[in-house]
Amino acid sequence: MTTTKPTPTAPESILDGSRFVRACLRKPVDRTPVWFLRQAGRYMQEYRDVRKHHTLVEICKQPDIAAEVTITAAEKLGVDAAIIFADLLLPLEPMGLPFEFQAGEGPVVHHPVRTAEDVHALRTDRADDLAYVARAIEKVASHFRDRLGIIGFCGAPYTLASYMIEGGGSRNYIFTKQMMYGQPAAWRELLDKLVVVLTEYCKLQVAAGADAIQIFDSWVGSLSLADYNDYAFEASKRLVRNVQALGVPVIYFGVETAGLLSAMASTGADVIGLDWRQPLDEGWRAVGHGHAVQGNLDPITLFAPLEVLEQRVKSILRSAGGRPGHIFNLGHGIVPNTAVENVQAVVKMVREFRLEEAHG
Ligand code: CP3
Repeated sequence: MTTTKPTPTAPESILDGSRFVRACLRKPVDRTPVWFLRQAGRYMQEYRDVRKHHTLVEICKQPDIAAEVTITAAEKLGVDAAIIFADLLLPLEPMGLPFEFQAGEGPVVHHPVRTAEDVHALRTDRADDLAYVARAIEKVASHFRDRLGIIGFCGAPYTLASYMIEGGGSRNYIFTKQMMYGQPAAWRELLDKLVVVLTEYCKLQVAAGADAIQIFDSWVGSLSLADYNDYAFEASKRLVRNVQALGVPVIYFGVETAGLLSAMASTGADVIGLDWRQPLDEGWRAVGHGHAVQGNLDPITLFAPLEVLEQRVKSILRSAGGRPGHIFNLGHGIVPNTAVENVQAVVKMVREFRLEEAHG
């Protein structure tokens, strides 16, 4: 199928642009778009089959395989957007911080960043080494054309800095906060370097065909509002603006962010990702109706009986109230052992939902 771009004088139609991108921009849509955080992953047999032969990083670095995993998940679920298969930590390697995924432990950075000298030593001139992600995006974009939104992504400066400093996942972020409070100049330099690399990385992804970029600030909920404002906000805002200047909408997502939503929205991100701990309408009010929102089903609801799942899905859609700018998603990623059929059932529920019936 060939599609023609509308002439500048043609009146805008509800069919211009993908449903997903339209919702990011708060334009009217024929129905609420839906996709899932971690939609390609271990809960899916097809992914586990690929993983038998390749490590996670091998999949990311081989564009054919990364594209196949991305496409298979999006098609199997029937979602409105495909997020490129990659990992948050990939930019650490070209910055000079090798890492690996250890079974059962998650990511491990071999020489975590702890001192000002460690920060100075980080490189910012090798973002091109991440071109394998762009090659995978090109393949996904040429497969889907305009049928689906293609999402590129990166970590937010705070969340990536926390991995670099802790050396892996963390419970209390002690080393991270020690640098933040005790070595503010090193902290600022680290975040500045991350913004440079992440901006270049996003540029590669957008040039390759990403329609939107999601910035994952997964661990930002570990910060108080005061610390977010003093130590993380400015770098996030700069990254958001740099990516928007590439011409695509930005989704800014974090977890346990109820107290941070209005500050996160001040970055100017087009869409704010909401976790499930707060009703969607409350979260949207905190974000402000001048932004779109994405969310916010508890991923563990996918283990509930279908009737319960349906109640929760409908209640989210009802609380969005048909206002343009809602993208249905989970409040965080799909976990292993989730039944694929239940994820598919949610897609069907969102597709078939009509606001009038919900009130009747
Ligand atoms: O389909 C998709 O959503 C795209 C794929 C994707 C992966 N990682 C692949 C992956 C995405 C969007 C990410 C982002 C990512 N990576 C985040 C932010 C998302 C979030 O949940 O907030 C984070 C924090 C990471 C870092 C990371 N990667 C961790 C902590 C782990 C280990 C967790 C675990 O469950 O073992 C990973 C591994 C990882 N990245 C897997 C996948 C599919 C699972 C492990 C595997 O296949 O071996």
